[in-house]
Amino acid sequence: MPGFATRAIRAASRVPDAPQAPVNVPIYQTSTFEVGSAAELAELLEFARPGHSYSRYSNPTHAALEAALAELEGGEACHVTASGMAAIHGVVLSVLSAGDEMIMPRAVYGGLVGLAGAVLSRSGMATRSVDTTDLGAIEAAFSERTRLVWLETISNPTTAMADIGAVADLAHARGALVAVDNTFASPYLCNPLALGADVVVHSTTKYVGGHSDITGGAIVGDAERVAAARRVVINAGGNAAPLEAFLALRGLKTLALRMERHSANALAVGRALEGAAGVDRVLYPGLPSHPQHELAMRMLRAGMGGGMLSIDLAGGRPAGERFLDRLQVAVHATSLGSVETLCSHPASSSHRQLSEAELGLAGLTPGMVRVSVGLEDPDDLVADLAAAAHDAGT
Ligand SMILES: Cc1ncc(COP(=O)(O)O)c(C=O)c1O
Repeated sequence: MPGFATRAIRAASRVPDAPQAPVNVPIYQTSTFEVGSAAELAELLEFARPGHSYSRYSNPTHAALEAALAELEGGEACHVTASGMAAIHGVVLSVLSAGDEMIMPRAVYGGLVGLAGAVLSRSGMATRSVDTTDLGAIEAAFSERTRLVWLETISNPTTAMADIGAVADLAHARGALVAVDNTFASPYLCNPLALGADVVVHSTTKYVGGHSDITGGAIVGDAERVAAARRVVINAGGNAAPLEAFLALRGLKTLALRMERHSANALAVGRALEGAAGVDRVLYPGLPSHPQHELAMRMLRAGMGGGMLSIDLAGGRPAGERFLDRLQVAVHATSLGSVETLCSHPASSSHRQLSEAELGLAGLTPGMVRVSVGLEDPDDLVADLAAAAHDAGT
């Protein structure tokens, strides 16, 4: 009879039979899987047979989230990652080699600017930042080495939108791919692959998770493109975690409801703040004043504008900082896409890497605050944000 320690380890590792399928996907909290032979393990590690070997490569909970996101984005395959940045890194590094170039928006999540500076430029990959709402500017930025055009469905934080279909036509005619960060829209409001994009990424930290309690990312596209990005992610160690994948699956179940309420609340806030004391300008795709309002109404589901808006405060940088101090309902925190309203000051947080001149080129002002409109009662939000804008200007 084996000793206690041996029996305890065996006894505690027995996976139960569950003849009735659980309503929720179990959290496969295991780093490794028992295999029957060396050949089986070798094949699993090459994804040459179905199954799982090691959770940096794949895991059943990850696989469930991947299947769900592929279906909801209309993609053939998906790979989930530790964060949105791991997904972005995986896609970019799987397309570009040393000497290649990527075109990206001037108004873009600061993490991509950081990746370009900290990793790409040091690896011989160049980026050209242009106003991607201007097709002519994109066309002019192409060179023989351009392999990838990067877009955000709704840009962070200016909410600028590019015509994904038109950019895809332009890029494909020049042999380049188009990747779209669909984080701000979520798969409920937009499916960039259907518009012509080659690959989509998400920070599932945001609307997919929806509750400010996970970090995660996803890459969706055709099987070959996703497999190429997966090779980068696996080798760089950017794998997802089973608990995070479980929470992202839970978030997906209420995504539609949340996006509808985020959109309705953001529209109410946008309407109330346009022309309000202390506010120079409101940028929200759902408002007719937005420069790409018509495009937004074509690209986003059923006239919804999403939950993100930016407010240009009349008092500049000090007003931006004062606004955040005055909030009572909304929370001053970075990140977005959650049940609670989150406000941040891009010039000192997500876009702190940008100089004043670069901020201007990206369409940001030092007094711009980004509001991720949550699911609170709209009257409470409007009152809180209008009071903060008013007080920040005085
Ligand atoms: C549009 C967008 N993409 C990607 C990311 C990066 O996501 P993560 O923080 O999950 O790495 C963010 C984070 O704020 C974002 O706003």
